[in-house]
Amino acid sequence: MKGLNFSDHIRRNPSVLCLEKVCFSWPSGMKVLDKCSFSIPREGLWMLVGPNGSGKSTLFRLISGMLKPTYGQIHCTLKPSLMFQNPDHQLLLPSCSSDLCLSLPKELTLQQRTKRIQEVLQQVDLGDIGSRPIHTLSGGQKQRLALAGALASDANLLLLDEPTALLDPASQKVVLNTVRKLCQGSSKRITALWITHRLEELQYCDGAARMEKGKVGPWLSGDLLMQRFKPLAGRRV
Ligand SMILES: Nc1ncnc2c1ncn2[C@@H]1O[C@H](COP(=O)(O)OP(=O)(O)O)[C@@H](O)[C@H]1O
Ligand SMILES: [Mg+2]
Repeated sequence: MKGLNFSDHIRRNPSVLCLEKVCFSWPSGMKVLDKCSFSIPREGLWMLVGPNGSGKSTLFRLISGMLKPTYGQIHCTLKPSLMFQNPDHQLLLPSCSSDLCLSLPKELTLQQRTKRIQEVLQQVDLGDIGSRPIHTLSGGQKQRLALAGALASDANLLLLDEPTALLDPASQKVVLNTVRKLCQGSSKRITALWITHRLEELQYCDGAARMEKGKVGPWLSGDLLMQRFKPLAGRRV
């Protein structure tokens, strides 16, 4: 970006999310992000891998606006929504539809609410579970309900923090395919940034990068990044 300021750079290189030299330190002085620069050029499913403590979850809190950078800039044209490993940490009300209601824009009429809830449940293949108590859902269904909540809030940037870490392989695949389908949708396309420690998930993404020591590396194909990590198979990356 030599000779260009950040706004000029954004104008010349349109992207849905762009970070420029973002630094973040906790009040203790511990530096977590260190001049972290990267951008997501277009919609799609993008994955990040990196060791524990490398700053991935902190990065998500910065992108979502929960934390402010101590230095640097974040430009985001999308509406973010965070999703965690454990869906029980974000599903609050007893039934599926009442929980989704919390995420809907306030101005909708009752009829519009009912219609929108049905639409978002269908988008995550949970068609007719609106009246079910949340505690009767499987872990994978709960994650898809959390996804439906993000869609209900009109978010179009999903920040998924190890969303399949607690799921069995079958549910993991369903959640991956659901997110991929949302990112490939023909009408309103969603962008997802997905943190994983499970290397096999990299084959589903449009691009993957390694996060290490507070910096995000270049985007590579999921297959290439998987190859690079193969010698470390069995270890968490
Ligand atoms: N609320 C917090 N207060 C102080 N330090 C924190 C807080 N949250 C995370 N950290 C520290 O910030 C560093 C990066 O954490 P995190 O972003 O969670 O990494 P990752 O998600 O890559 O495992 C870790 O050393 C962690 O202990
Ligand atoms: Mg984390």
